[in-house]
Amino acid sequence: MPVDHQQLRERARRRLPHFLFHYIEGGAYDELTLRANRSALQSVRLRQRVMCDVSAIDTTTRLFGRDMPLPLALGPVGLAGMCARRGEVKAAHAAERAGIPFCLSTVSVCDMAEVAAGTSTLFWFQLYMIRDRAFMVDLLAQAARHCTVLLFTVDMPVAATRHRDFRSGMSGAPGLRGALRRGFHAALRPGWSWRVGLRGRPHVLGNLVPVLGRQAGTEDFAAWIMRNFDPSVTWDDLAFVRAHWPGPLVIKGVLDPDDAEAAVAAGADGIVVSNHGGRQLDGAPATAEALPAVAARVGGRVTVLADGGVRSGIDLFRMLALGADGVLLGRSWVHALAAEGERGVSALIEGFGQDLRAAMAMTGRRRLTDIDCGALIRVPLHDGEETSR
Ligand SMILES: Cc1cc2nc3c(=O)[nH]c(=O)nc-3n(C[C@H](O)[C@H](O)[C@H](O)COP(=O)(O)O)c2cc1C
Repeated sequence: MPVDHQQLRERARRRLPHFLFHYIEGGAYDELTLRANRSALQSVRLRQRVMCDVSAIDTTTRLFGRDMPLPLALGPVGLAGMCARRGEVKAAHAAERAGIPFCLSTVSVCDMAEVAAGTSTLFWFQLYMIRDRAFMVDLLAQAARHCTVLLFTVDMPVAATRHRDFRSGMSGAPGLRGALRRGFHAALRPGWSWRVGLRGRPHVLGNLVPVLGRQAGTEDFAAWIMRNFDPSVTWDDLAFVRAHWPGPLVIKGVLDPDDAEAAVAAGADGIVVSNHGGRQLDGAPATAEALPAVAARVGGRVTVLADGGVRSGIDLFRMLALGADGVLLGRSWVHALAAEGERGVSALIEGFGQDLRAAMAMTGRRRLTDIDCGALIRVPLHDGEETSR
């Protein structure tokens, strides 16, 4: 059966406790940018072409020295491991079987060693600038053992307010009150509580155990973020990361062509055009709006990845046509994981491949390199205007 993202999302909503589902769904402040990510992508019209002999469609590509069947990776999502038991390992395994990269978040449930033990392909790791530089060096040393590519996230100098997390009880109700509220929500989802919440090892933020310990709750996690994410970071600090990371370095969270240029000048191998899934600066452009100008400036010099609101292989096609070399998934793989575990993530990736091939066939594009803005009728520009081609 074809994969329907809406159905996976709905199943995830029915399976996850209220606070967890809304933690995944939510964005910053009024969630304008969150919604804009979807609407800007959906407004991109594709140019149908006919009679082009599309009997052989090739979706293979090579990113950061690795051949891949699709220009796709599972992007970093903090706490994804709460959506299925040892969830990050399951997702990494599904990605491995599909031959695409999995990127582990700094704030994952499973740590790097556990994901490495559960898979046999090197994965990607995402890191923030952390005030405790010695701890960063430790994380980078582990990443050098287990990972091929480092995504360095730069769009979170401070944590944005996510009103939804306060309403749902994910944040803001400290101590026993918060725990009771979340416990109540969990009790309404006995399936999740049994499968994920109660069985086996308790949930901790695996990579942060050396600094947070094994007893940390969600408030400790939020407090640690407030204390430790370093807002003083500048492009000069990239030299520090470079000194401890020998592999490809990708800057995640770029929306402005000048910042993309600065990333290239600072020695990045790639960028991710991203607004953190609408979870940081509300009012920032949708990524589909920002991507064309960024790709026009630095495309061809570094690898340009993009994310934000991608829910199908058709959206993936749109991002490629807007200038991306590859795409990261966020909420869509987490919905699939919550809905159907590893099987769900595998089906989702397969569905993305099918949809991408269909979009290529119906636009008359046989190879990924054939996909450019000529495949579009309207291209949203980063200043909100639209142009016809
Ligand atoms: C629940 C959640 C947690 C996230 N955690 C991280 C993270 O730890 N590190 C990071 O760089 N990005 C994080 N992101 C952003 C994603 O990597 C990605 O940029 C975003 O989800 C893409 O938008 P989409 O979910 O609409 O596809 C998170 C996103 C969500 C939804």
